Amino acid sequence: MEKVGDCQMYCLVELKKENKLDFKRFVRPFFEGQFEKLDEDQSVCGAGATFFGDPVGLALCHNYYENNWNVIIVYVVPKFRNMGIGTALMTNVEAMVSQRDGRKMLFSYQSDNTTRLPVEKVLARRGFPEPLPEVNFYRTEIEKLCDLGWIKKYVLAEALEKSTVFYREYEIFRWAELNDRDRDMLLASRGSIYSRDVSPLEMAEKIDGQLSLGVRHNGDLIGWLVTMKSGDDNLYIKASFLKEEYRGTSLYVVLFSTIMNLQKKAGIPYTTTEVRTDNKRMIRFMNHALADAGYTRTESLSTLKNLAPTL
Ligand SMILES: CC(C)(COP(=O)(O)OP(=O)(O)OC[C@H]1O[C@@H](n2cnc3c(N)ncnc32)[C@H](O)[C@@H]1OP(=O)(O)O)[C@@H](O)C(=O)NCCC(=O)NCCS
Repeated sequence: MEKVGDCQMYCLVELKKENKLDFKRFVRPFFEGQFEKLDEDQSVCGAGATFFGDPVGLALCHNYYENNWNVIIVYVVPKFRNMGIGTALMTNVEAMVSQRDGRKMLFSYQSDNTTRLPVEKVLARRGFPEPLPEVNFYRTEIEKLCDLGWIKKYVLAEALEKSTVFYREYEIFRWAELNDRDRDMLLASRGSIYSRDVSPLEMAEKIDGQLSLGVRHNGDLIGWLVTMKSGDDNLYIKASFLKEEYRGTSLYVVLFSTIMNLQKKAGIPYTTTEVRTDNKRMIRFMNHALADAGYTRTESLSTLKNLAPTL
């Protein structure tokens, strides 16, 4: 077991098959998939902290794209905070990521995080640049949303029963029905026709195949609105995209309204829509479109650090 610094009270350990279960209690269900991969898949690594042998915290990182990694969890049990454990966990996972040839480390957190000040302190101490707002989250009650006039107008009633339907000349299908041709198109056009921020490929495992929709025109995939569940009570609208020439055709509101009604049918009471802070058009749309249903808005802040290569 590796000791950190001159502290004799806590130790840091690399998370491996043999010890990871001791730390599982600190992992929210949303991240369990990545946690399970520890020591089985090179795209995940993590460190755990113990205090006189008892697990008291962990940090988990994920390789989401080429040499880019993100810290998906850093957590310390409240009683053991402000002792330097959070900073030590971050130092430790940064070193692990550098050893795995990681070059950039992304850290994101929500503006309403109750430990925002300690989080920012740890980041500053670890040399992360000042975090900036990146994504807005609009959280709404699904019952109120489905009562809005525009949702009622654009919902595709047939799509609530069938997995593939036509809206005008467009084929609207549940994401679970994605075919090989669609996948090829996604791979070939990522980074050119659509940006990585809205790419369903990176989040494929978490996408809810029944509560996400894709659109084809003449057999070609032209857009999507993909969601994932977070806990039992919330559905996240994670990414949406329509090829340039199909924007302004009401396709987006059709997808949105239909998914809201699928969600209502599935009995999930809240929906959270993510919109990037730089997408001013979408923010204007959300502020206006959700106003009558009411919403709470939070934002996530992000910071990206360049990691020094290991010698
Ligand atoms: C963020 C977190 C991991 C930090 O763990 P930690 O072990 O307390 O971290 P450290 O002890 O290394 O550093 C915390 C620093 O914040 C400071 N701090 C604590 N409360 C503070 C406050 N209200 N205002 C300003 N600074 C504060 C501490 O004094 C300490 O700085 P210091 O060493 O200069 O005194 C811990 O708060 C946590 O588990 N939060 C919940 C999980 C979370 O939100 N994670 C981030 C998103 S994944």
